[in-house]
Parts: sequence; structure tokens; C-alpha cells
Amino acid sequence: MTLFTSVQLGALSLSNRVVMAPMTRSRAGADGLPTDVMVDYYGQRATAGLIISEGIAPSEDGRGYCRTPGIYNGQQIEAWNQVTRAVHEKGGCIVAQIMHVGRVANVLNKASGSETVAPSAIRARGEMYTDVRGMQPFDLPRALAQNEIASVIADYRKATENAFTAGFDGVELHCTSGYLPAQFLCTGTNKRTDDYGGSVANRARFVLEVLEAMASVDGAQRVGMRICPDNPFNDLQDDDPQQTFEYLLNEVSALGLSYLHAIRFPSGRVDSIALGQRYFGGRLIGNESYSFDEAEAAVAAGELAAVSFGRHFIANPDLIERLQCGKELAAFDPQTLYTPGAEGYSSYPPAGL
Ligand SMILES: Cc1cc2nc3c(=O)[nH]c(=O)nc-3n(C[C@H](O)[C@H](O)[C@H](O)COP(=O)(O)O)c2cc1C
Repeated sequence: MTLFTSVQLGALSLSNRVVMAPMTRSRAGADGLPTDVMVDYYGQRATAGLIISEGIAPSEDGRGYCRTPGIYNGQQIEAWNQVTRAVHEKGGCIVAQIMHVGRVANVLNKASGSETVAPSAIRARGEMYTDVRGMQPFDLPRALAQNEIASVIADYRKATENAFTAGFDGVELHCTSGYLPAQFLCTGTNKRTDDYGGSVANRARFVLEVLEAMASVDGAQRVGMRICPDNPFNDLQDDDPQQTFEYLLNEVSALGLSYLHAIRFPSGRVDSIALGQRYFGGRLIGNESYSFDEAEAAVAAGELAAVSFGRHFIANPDLIERLQCGKELAAFDPQTLYTPGAEGYSSYPPAGL
């Protein structure tokens, strides 16, 4: 088995095991509409075994960063359809990462009338970038009432339906990095006293109901999930991440998801790859600072079904071909990671043969 052999992840057929990791690049319009440069960018990277899109908001409330895309209206679906078509025309496979930021938001990045909501009314420490006024503190979120949670879950379901209408091959639940699902899971951000807080079963309820809702659209075999237990990003804290994720993955394993996308976090208290192998039981995609030799060894040993790479794909649209031919990799410009337009985005050329 090598990185360049095909693999099946549920209903997803990958021609190789080099996956493009999800990366927010802030190239959408202010209204969350995907743009033409995004069509070029994703199309250029279609030789990846699987592309996982940047985080896409399931609702207006779910957006928190500037110029990030959504998938909750007809125009957005049409624009995403251009992206998926560009990838499919080149034989690629692409899933939509569904990302609701919860409290990780600033009102200046949101549409008027939308709200910043979370399991509990606890503001994240820190600041985020806004186009209008530079760095700003995170919003103080409003705690969702128990009877509002069903409609947030329905938004995930609808976003999944919209993703399939737009031609995506699957969807991935973003369940890490301090965003809404992680906020429900963790004791530091979830102080609820109803069915969605307190015990580990209650804290995991939101994530499980969201996954069930996403799987109800076209089966669990088109739904993946991304985790990084004990990652403190965006002021996240959990008293016992090992227990939280053992419980969660045990429950999730019964759903029969397409894959689990596990990010390593060596300075944390949990070995996410070992945890996934033991409690999830299905196909694993590993991520975070893998060298190609290390990725190849993990796949050859049957430890991982595939490995995802983020940063290497930024300046190497033809990463697969470069790896196959042993060509040198290009370095990306950190100044243009989140700036609008083609520069430092779809402007990176292939190496040429
Ligand atoms: C510019 C940038 C944006 C990112 N945006 C997302 C995102 O939207 N969703 C997500 O799950 N991870 C996101 N990540 C994390 C990457 O998916 C990945 O986990 C990280 O880059 C580590 O993989 P690597 O060592 O191969 O780069 C982002 C990373 C970068 C560099």
C-alpha cells in the first residue's frame, strides 16, 4: 500500500491517499458567496485523492470570520456548483466542510440581523480580524435556548442537502478548533443544565444529533467528521478530553461514517490517532505536520487510510505530481493567506513537466 494507491472511504472513491486538508482562505464575497478565484483554486488541486473544502457556514449565524463562504441560499449553491464541476471535470473528489463558528465571531464579520450564539454565554478570550476595524474582541454570545437547538441542527441538515445539490461528493462535520460542536462537547464552554449540558452524554448529544441529521440526507457513508481532542485553540478547555472523546467516538462508531479525520496534537493529553483506531473503528485520515515518509509509513502499516496535507497544498496545486516525480516543493507567502483576490491563492503555478 502506498500513498498513491486508491482507497474507498464509505461512498467516497479516492484515486490516491493524499488528501487536501480544509483551509479557510477568505476569498468569498462579504455575503458568503463563493467567487471565480475559488473555482480556479479548487480546480487546480483536483488531483488530490480528496479535497476537503474550507469551512463553510450552514447559516448566517454560523459565520464569524471575514469573507468566509456559506451554503444556505440558492446563489451560494449555484456558485459552489461551479467549484465542484471544476474539480469533477478533472476527475477529483470534493467534500464540503460544514463549520458553524458559534462564539468564535465578531459582529463586524456578520450580516446584519444575524447573531452570535453558543451553548453558554461565555466570551472567548482573544481577538479576531475584521476588515472594517482590524483586530476586535470576540463577541459575547447568547446562550441558545433548548428549543432553539433543533433549528441549529436543522441548519446542518439543510446545509448537507444544499452541498449535495451543489455537487459535493460528501460533507465533513467540523468538530474541533473551538467552534460550535466543540463548544458543546467541552466543560469550559458548556455550562448548561438541560439535556445538552452536564454529563458527557449530554455534552455529546448536540454532536451526535448533528451527525444523525447530516447522515439522514444521503446516508452516513457520505459524512465524515474532524476532531482534535484537547486542542485549546479559540480558548477551548475540557476537564477530561479522553473521557469525552471515548464516549463520543463509541457512539459515533455505530453510525458508520465515511471517515474520521483525526488531527494529532502531541502536546495534548489525548493520542487522537490511537483513540480513533480503538473507538471509531472505521477509516482514519491523519493530519498535522506529516512528512511524506511518515505518511507513507502510516498508510503502509494500515494505521491510516489516508493522510491530509494543508500547507503543502497552498503553493503546490500539483502536489501529487510533484511527489510522484520527486520535484521540489514551493513555499507559500504567509502575507497573502487571507487577502482577497487571486494573488497568493490561485496564482501559484504548477511545476511543469
Ligand atoms: C490557512 C489555513 C486555514 C485553515 N482553515 C481550516 C479550516 O477552515 N478548517 C479546518 O478544519 N482546519 C483548517 N486549518 C487547519 C488545516 O486543515 C490543517 O489541520 C493544518 O494546516 C495542519 O496540517 P499541515 O501540517 O499539513 O499543514 C487551516 C490551516 C491553515 C494553514
